[in-house]
Amino acid sequence: MIEQSLFLIKPNAVMQGHVGHIISMLEDHGFSILKMKLFRFDEELSRIFYAEHIGKEFFNRLQSFMCSGDTVALLLEREDAIHHLRELNGDVLPEKRQPGTIRALYGAGITENGVHSSDSLDSAKREIEVIFGA
Ligand code: CMP
Repeated sequence: MIEQSLFLIKPNAVMQGHVGHIISMLEDHGFSILKMKLFRFDEELSRIFYAEHIGKEFFNRLQSFMCSGDTVALLLEREDAIHHLRELNGDVLPEKRQPGTIRALYGAGITENGVHSSDSLDSAKREIEVIFGA
């Protein structure tokens, strides 16, 4: 099934100059870019975007990291996009990241993990609305 997913290149990867290579990796894996923008999360937007994580012990770390610099957001589309993107991203845990995945290349730790993509069709719909509007 053709799916859409929200993809973020997070502040550590933007600051370190990896936007171009990450977008090339996405294109090489057959993703079409439908929308793209550069912006900075503020406290309010990060609370809305990461609402499911409010109250977790890592939330404040996640929030201050996401507000620390610019983010690039892409609306991506391809067959089975959600699953393929999560494979290409690599695991949230550094020790489980497969070589060649984006997080193995550009993730510094659990929080500063370089990229985000939606984990389900429902989250994709919500996240796309939050970042790009309905
Ligand atoms: P992301 O895919 O954007 O989804 C939620 C984010 O929270 C995740 O990537 C990490 O940046 C962060 N995160 C998840 N689990 C932890 C954790 N245990 N400690 C710190 N940050 C986490």
